[in-house]
Amino acid sequence: MTTNVSLQEANAADAARLDNLLQLYIHDLSALFPHVELSDSGRYTYAPLASYLTGVPERRAFLLRADGRLAGFALARRGSPALPEAEVWDVAEFFVLRRLRGAGVGRTAALRLWEQLGGACTVRVSNANVRALSFWRRAIAEYRGKVRELSWSPSTEPWTVFHLQPNDET
Ligand SMILES: CC(C)(COP(=O)(O)OP(=O)(O)OC[C@H]1O[C@@H](n2cnc3c(N)ncnc32)[C@H](O)[C@@H]1OP(=O)(O)O)[C@@H](O)C(=O)NCCC(=O)NCCS
Repeated sequence: MTTNVSLQEANAADAARLDNLLQLYIHDLSALFPHVELSDSGRYTYAPLASYLTGVPERRAFLLRADGRLAGFALARRGSPALPEAEVWDVAEFFVLRRLRGAGVGRTAALRLWEQLGGACTVRVSNANVRALSFWRRAIAEYRGKVRELSWSPSTEPWTVFHLQPNDET
């Protein structure tokens, strides 16, 4: 098991690093989401990345490190497409390198992320992403606060939304 998992706030200097990690993440998810297309240059496009690196307080990017080595990333923003509350922190993207999976890296990082964000948070996951759904349920089981699970259908596909509220806000 990896014991030393850390979350490091990213900034504009990490743009290429995050873009590289996004390539791996999107390629993974493209197996589940057939509409995700590779561009003709051989890369995936993730237009919102720059908005996470401008330093505005409503958008935050994090690098995940396991024993000091790059292990994944997380992007979070104020406001969830699934809920009307403007203040809630939405975990927009979350990724752990394949080689490190199944060792608790994601779980530890998720708990740290919610702690660092503070306040209410949401996680949205497509029901087709069975592994991620099971992962979030497991991570949330260790969350100290109130959890609501909601169904969400942004398209024809069903998604699950977890709404997390820390104990001091209940
Ligand atoms: C989902 C993801 C972040 C999980 O990261 P991870 O570091 O492997 O997760 P952990 O090792 O912390 O697993 C925690 C729990 O999740 C569940 N879990 C993890 N991988 C699983 C799998 N392949 N199948 C079923 N359950 C799984 C288990 O309950 C596990 O608990 P355990 O360690 O007690 O068995 C990683 O697989 C990933 O990056 N996937 C691709 C991107 C993605 O889908 N992101 C989420 C978008 S919503």
